[in-house]
Amino acid sequence: AAPDRHPLIMQMDWPELKQAVAACEACSLASTRTQTVFGVGDEHAEWLFVGEAPGAEEDKRGEPFVGAAGQLLDNMLGAIQLKRGENVYIANVLKCRPPQNRDPQGEEVVKCDPFLKRQVELIKPKLIVALGRFAAQSVLATEQSIGALRGKLHDYHGVPVIVTYHPAYLLRNLPDKAKAWEDLCFARATMRNLQSA
Ligand code: URA
Repeated sequence: AAPDRHPLIMQMDWPELKQAVAACEACSLASTRTQTVFGVGDEHAEWLFVGEAPGAEEDKRGEPFVGAAGQLLDNMLGAIQLKRGENVYIANVLKCRPPQNRDPQGEEVVKCDPFLKRQVELIKPKLIVALGRFAAQSVLATEQSIGALRGKLHDYHGVPVIVTYHPAYLLRNLPDKAKAWEDLCFARATMRNLQSA
C-alpha cells in the first residue's frame, strides 16, 4: 500500500519538496547522514540523470556526483555537448548516503522513491538516463541486468528512460567505456527525435 505521505508529496512545489527531503526521517539513513542530497541543476531540464545514492563526498557537500564518479559524469555529459546545470538535472534514487556506501535496501527505496517521482513531475524532462544497475533497476522496477536493459527505451511514469553504466563502475572497468559511449550516442539521438516530435 502507498504510504500516507505519498499523496502529500505528489502535491508539493519545489520549495516544499526540498524542505520535505531535508527534514525526512522516513528511514534509518536519517540518523547516519550528514545531510540530504536533493539534486542539482536546471529545474526545467530536458535531461535528467539519475544515480544511486550520495557517497561520502556528496554527503559532505550536499550535492550529487561531486566525487571521482562525478568528474567522469561531467566528462560523459561533455561527450554529448551537455553541461551540469544547463538543460541538465542530476539526482539520485536515494537522497541519503547509506553507511559505507552499502547497497540501498528495499525499504529505503520505497520510502525515497516518491521524492524522485515528484522531481520528475516538476522537471518534466524529455529523457531520463539511469546510471548503473541500481538506479536502472529501481527506476524501472525490474531485476534485469544492465546488459539486458541497455540500448532500449524504457518508461518511468510516462518519461522515456535510457540505461547506461554508472561512472563509478566505469572507473573500475575502463573497457566498458566504449559501451557507455554507445549509450550516450543513443541518448543523444533519442533526444533529437523527442525534440523534433
Ligand atoms: N554515486 C551516485 O550514484 N550518486 C552520487 O551522487 C555519487 C556517486
